[in-house]
Amino acid sequence: MAMFRVILWGKPPLSYNAQVPTVTLTSSGKRFEAAADETVLEAAQRAGIALPYSCRSGVCGSCKATLVEGECSYPRNPPVALSASARQHRAILLCQAVPCGDIAIQAREIASVEDIPHRRLEVVVVERRALAPDVVGVWLQPTDNERLNWLPGQYLDVILEDGKHRPFSIASGPRADGRIELHVRHVPGGGFTSWVYESLRVGDRLTIEAPLGTFVPREDSERPMLLVAGGTGFAPVKAIVEHFIALGTRRPMYVYWGARTVADLYLIDLARRWTEELSTITFIPVLSDPQAARMSGLREGLIHEAVLEDHPDLADFDLYMSGPPPMIAAGRQLFVEANLPEDRLYFDSFDVAPDVLDAILRGRAGIHGL
Ligand SMILES: Cc1cc2nc3c(=O)[nH]c(=O)nc-3n(C[C@H](O)[C@H](O)[C@H](O)COP(=O)(O)OP(=O)(O)OC[C@H]3O[C@@H](n4cnc5c(N)ncnc54)[C@H](O)[C@@H]3O)c2cc1C
Ligand code: FES
Repeated sequence: MAMFRVILWGKPPLSYNAQVPTVTLTSSGKRFEAAADETVLEAAQRAGIALPYSCRSGVCGSCKATLVEGECSYPRNPPVALSASARQHRAILLCQAVPCGDIAIQAREIASVEDIPHRRLEVVVVERRALAPDVVGVWLQPTDNERLNWLPGQYLDVILEDGKHRPFSIASGPRADGRIELHVRHVPGGGFTSWVYESLRVGDRLTIEAPLGTFVPREDSERPMLLVAGGTGFAPVKAIVEHFIALGTRRPMYVYWGARTVADLYLIDLARRWTEELSTITFIPVLSDPQAARMSGLREGLIHEAVLEDHPDLADFDLYMSGPPPMIAAGRQLFVEANLPEDRLYFDSFDVAPDVLDAILRGRAGIHGL
């Protein structure tokens, strides 16, 4: 286990049960027990209760909740996604916080995810196609002929030979032919994505765990939606948009897709077709490379800036976003400052896997003697 400083907040717990800490959700009154060294998120999942999460590394902030009673510690990764002010207001990260005794928390429950069984299965690569200079489309099929079920926007973990996990969003909803679509960006220096980019072939077998994550459509709303994707963050956004198209939703959808060049908008024709299928969809491609924008006639800039230029007040929207961590971090701050209620901001941040963050932080700790 990583050796990080243990951070304790707040007053001593009201009651302390050294054996089995109990977690109470103040909104629903549900209670579950946490085993020794188990995070609140792991304990909730074991109890079949779906709480929000994405990176599981402590960096994206999607699992933020409020500690109402008791204390938690952070024996794994430090809660880097929490600002000093959030900590003062007793915010915790469910994916890293380990209860020090009985605790009560205020957290959003995502009931739609709860009923879908999560399993480990073997899949075979049935199609592999270059989508962009550094993006590969991979289609998988379960080898046991048992279809996998998931909600649009969820992700899967590829299990590597050494047991480490690499998360990838599923780019569609469940399909009749059982196919699972991934859009994999080649990360320079990345072990798994380099292998996919250079060596993966049709017929190769992989072990996956799915479905995971809580970046899923919220149907209990009539508000217009902003769907904001950066790079391969388009994968889960595609799944969610296709879901709403299939439902025939009348809610306006503004789909923003940001990339460096036109070639990186690897399914731009598909996104344009959506606007023909449903008049309530608006598609706004944005390029960060000024020359590429000039040459293509597409809008130039950063994706979150484009959203705010078009919609300076976000009070009446639901906002879904996924993509690289810097985009998510900027969006989390600026969209909330533009009046978007935090509980209507749904996101997946494409962070490195928890073991990589762990290795990076341990490396830094070694260098700086933390
Ligand atoms: C919920 C979620 C969904 C995602 N969905 C997608 C998706 O749909 N499509 C997609 O393309 N990506 C997605 N990602 C991102 C994807 O999971 C990562 O790009 C992938 O895990 C990289 O794996 P890798 O083995 O190639 O790289 P890794 O080997 O994990 O390395 C990643 C980077 O970290 C560096 N690194 C590794 N170890 C160290 C160390 N010890 N010190 C310093 N640097 C180090 C590497 O050089 C590299 O640059 C998602 C991420 C999350 C959290
Ligand atoms: S910070 Fe906990 S899931 Fe990302």
